[in-house]
Amino acid sequence: MSTPEIKLDSLLQEDRVFPPPPEFARRALVSDPEVYARAEADPEGYWAEWAEQLHWFRRWDRVLDWQPPDARWFVGGTLNAAYNCLDRHLDGPRRTKPALLWEGEPGDRRAYTYEELHREVGRAANALKGLGVKRGDRVAIYLPMIPEAAIAMLACARIGAAHSVVFGGFSAESLRDRIRDAEARVLITADGGYRRGGVVALKRSADQAVEEEGGCPTIEHVLVVRRHGAAADSVGEAEMKAGRDVWWHDAVEGADAGCPAEEMDAEDLLYILYTSGTTGKPKGIMHTTGGYLTQVYATTRWVFDLREDDVYWCTADVGWVTGHSYIVYGPLANGATVVMYEGAPDWPDRARMWKTIEDYKVTIFYTAPTAIRAFMKWGTDFPAQHDLSSLRLLGTVGEPINPEAWIWYHKFIGGERCPVVDTWWQTETGAIMITPLPGVTHTVPGSATTPFPGIQADILSLQGECIPTGGGFLAIRRPWPSMLRGIWGDPERFRETYWSKWTGKAVGGSQPGEGVYFPGDGAKRDERGFFWVIGRIDDVLNVAGHRIGTMEVESALVDHPSVAEAAVVGKAHELKGQAVAAFVTLKEGQEATEELKKELSDHVVRKIGAIARPDAILFAGDLPKTRSGKIMRRLLKDIAEGRALGDTTTLADPNVVQRLKGEYEAKES
Ligand code: PRX
Repeated sequence: MSTPEIKLDSLLQEDRVFPPPPEFARRALVSDPEVYARAEADPEGYWAEWAEQLHWFRRWDRVLDWQPPDARWFVGGTLNAAYNCLDRHLDGPRRTKPALLWEGEPGDRRAYTYEELHREVGRAANALKGLGVKRGDRVAIYLPMIPEAAIAMLACARIGAAHSVVFGGFSAESLRDRIRDAEARVLITADGGYRRGGVVALKRSADQAVEEEGGCPTIEHVLVVRRHGAAADSVGEAEMKAGRDVWWHDAVEGADAGCPAEEMDAEDLLYILYTSGTTGKPKGIMHTTGGYLTQVYATTRWVFDLREDDVYWCTADVGWVTGHSYIVYGPLANGATVVMYEGAPDWPDRARMWKTIEDYKVTIFYTAPTAIRAFMKWGTDFPAQHDLSSLRLLGTVGEPINPEAWIWYHKFIGGERCPVVDTWWQTETGAIMITPLPGVTHTVPGSATTPFPGIQADILSLQGECIPTGGGFLAIRRPWPSMLRGIWGDPERFRETYWSKWTGKAVGGSQPGEGVYFPGDGAKRDERGFFWVIGRIDDVLNVAGHRIGTMEVESALVDHPSVAEAAVVGKAHELKGQAVAAFVTLKEGQEATEELKKELSDHVVRKIGAIARPDAILFAGDLPKTRSGKIMRRLLKDIAEGRALGDTTTLADPNVVQRLKGEYEAKES
């Protein structure tokens, strides 16, 4: 991994400060900054207080056992995540409270009370058992944003099977890789899902994943939700393979709703979620039960100031960690009313989000900077058409938010009365780590502000020195309950990727570096002590809030028979934050045509999914390399972003990069 190139001057000197609105602060769950000091005085006691708010079959003996990099939280405790999200709400008024308010893209609606959701999850759990799924197994879930996605996750949790949700936008091949890696027994999918008026044929991709190129030998059954049936559209009725494929409605609707929740160890695997890293192979991030649930519960409550009558809407897809932690586990463990929407934000028109907020009287809205930038571009007329006065808090996640977008969100969506919480975290951290507390923190647009109480974040130099103000590597110095417990099947990569940056160094002068977590981000700390996360400093891109490894895209490109070599870099993009730019060297005798460019782009989509489609492909006779043959991506990034070239002295042949720059500029103009 290269040293960070943190361009501090690229951050705006932002000095607009937004104290919590007085009306909000008066009623906020937390309005006393004392919570930080209390958590700091006894972090384990503090987290134990949160854990006590969950339902445990057996209380833990010890809060934390920390043998870096292996942490065990709530040692000896037993609980069930689905029980905590459902059963424990059934004794009081929450029994008949809406748990899930769902809207399909075409406008169809379904609502579940806690009691109803509990029943559906019980049925689905029994159906999974009927298909042979047992405690300790893995189940892959490849679904659109329909209630069955949450139901399937909770059904797995109920019977002690770990789920591996794969985002519906991933290709058949990506799905196959993930199923194989996790050795899932059952795949849950749907005949399709709606997106921009069309149907995404998920079952077709699922079939390709399971049947082609070696398939998925561990898959015994495919459970298929009928989302669109034989609707009058192009994809038609799903083909069901006898003996393997089972309709969800056949297996679930007739099943018994009574299914006891398995008593799971706090450290039993709750789920695996794949995310991109610096190699071509995605990492299966492992989250366990007790610590994960404790922190998603705590952060949902305090960061969103969640109260009993809130209507909470997080626009993420359940295929990403935000959907896991802040659509399913965090809000449901809190007994919240959750809004879930299937489709595109601009369907049938660009007012869809605002209409939804008005229709459901949404009070808390959590989305991504990419979406906010698009809303901003579409203009204020769309939100102005709808009554957004129900909103009382806004959140953002997934990438750095530019201050202009923050201000726009605050003004035109929040009506200047809603605090904005910019939350920094990752798939690996499981839950929010750096964030304002809306009733306490004076926010500054563009900064995620300070660590959540109990979290010890820092900015370190490569040598492990603490940087009080200025830029460096973001680091987490103390274990936290929802931290990843490993990379599925690859303990060495786990240690190497996250826990080796400061190995052998004394962090902050005394702490052994082995116990310090490196998230892969560069950040700076300002005079107030606020954190400004600048972004990834490894070979990972953040495209529209989605993580994509440059190596994954490069592998997809070189997989094409015409390609000899490829180098992929992120290129700043007005809406998406970053876009994929690819430099491709063709094999001898291949002709560099526009058709080939299109074919290569489609090939990447076929291999990975539409989220990885390159924005720009440039055919390059040669790629800039060091004398030892390493491609200098930094220079390619300069070219893609139209900057003057950085230091070229280490290049084997400086002419290569000059030539490339000329070609790129000729193409752009
Ligand atoms: O670079 C950081 C960025 O997104 C990365 C994590 O991506 P992922 O695991 O897909 O999870 C996204 C949703 C939690 C981080 O390493 N990131 C996330 N939130 C922020 C952010 N960058 C700046 N500000 C944020 N609020």
